[in-house]
Amino acid sequence: MHLTKEQERILNGEYGWAKARALQIIVNVGEALGAEKLVRIVHAHVSGVSYNNIGEPGLRFLQEFLGKGAKTAVYSTINPGCIDLMNNSKIIDQAPYHNQLKINNALENMGFSPTYTCIPYYHRPPAPKEHLAWGESNAVIIANSLFGAKTNREGGPVALATAITGYTYYSGLHLDENRIARKRIIIPDEISEKEYSAIGLWIGYNIYDIPVIEFNREKPSIYELKLLLSSAAASGKHGLIAIKDVTPRETYSLDIDETIELEPGDYIDLIGTPPSNEESVLGHIGCPHLHPRELVKIHQVATRYRRVKNNNGLLISIPPFFYELFRQEINDLRTKGIEIAFGTCPIVSKLTKQYDFLVTNSGKSCFYMSRIHRINTYIASVREIIDLVMEK
Ligand code: F3S
Repeated sequence: MHLTKEQERILNGEYGWAKARALQIIVNVGEALGAEKLVRIVHAHVSGVSYNNIGEPGLRFLQEFLGKGAKTAVYSTINPGCIDLMNNSKIIDQAPYHNQLKINNALENMGFSPTYTCIPYYHRPPAPKEHLAWGESNAVIIANSLFGAKTNREGGPVALATAITGYTYYSGLHLDENRIARKRIIIPDEISEKEYSAIGLWIGYNIYDIPVIEFNREKPSIYELKLLLSSAAASGKHGLIAIKDVTPRETYSLDIDETIELEPGDYIDLIGTPPSNEESVLGHIGCPHLHPRELVKIHQVATRYRRVKNNNGLLISIPPFFYELFRQEINDLRTKGIEIAFGTCPIVSKLTKQYDFLVTNSGKSCFYMSRIHRINTYIASVREIIDLVMEK
């Protein structure tokens, strides 16, 4: 790999152990992938920060970097951890609270912004063609597909290393030659809210190239695309799905070898079947974390109901900064028995109780919850979720 004089100085330790070690991680990964050089990034987003997932070894790894002087070199944000940061949830297991805070403190002391969300683009929307180094598959696919930025799907240690150095390896989706759509997928004309998640799961399971998807009806909303893209990135390895008339055209090219006209029969089974009245249901909304507008919509619907039925739960996962914006709405929802979890989600956490069924609008939540928490799943619209788990 070709390194600049400055990069060689970093590797030789002229800027300290932490920066040298971090750059070595990136060079090693880059060389394994055949990268010819490194590229400067403007934003690093680190995932894999849940104490449930990385435990004591992960905490020690972060504390060692901090102890040896690691500081972020670029704007850097943090994915959700495994606890409700308000320490209020009865659904999310709060046992790892203090250990998760140690991870958070290590990252914040390095200079990470305390975002604790999987929608880092809300804090800093990337520009087309900007180079980023993001962990968290849903954030990556949205950065590439909606914003036209350039990032690979980074693992936790690599994303940390990019934050400390401000560089990543120049390969994968950073190169125009790897941003070519080869499958055209035509989406059916009339699709409901919950079908976006099912279509995303179908794409992840069945399409291995970068596809370009075309909507014949009017352009879907960013909220609908967020469900589709995050679901595809969960069931597949996608980091970029081009969307006609949405993805900035100068950030991908076309070399189509197959056109697929998707029909509801292809993906409808992925929605699942609704739970019976006897089964305990956990409703989950907020995977990926909600945008402010989505919370307002949920508030409008949920406040027409009396409260969450006994034996059921309704969990909404949101970024911590919502607390100041929506105090009133959050209190209203809590009085109805709805749980609001800040800076976390049930996929990176443990639950305090086993439910029979998960009902969610998110294909990504279904994908992981059925595997991690061994729970039956059903994809529903926000309205249907609230109707199923609450009483009038
Ligand atoms: Fe975010 Fe958790 Fe879903 S981190 S994308 S809410 S799995």
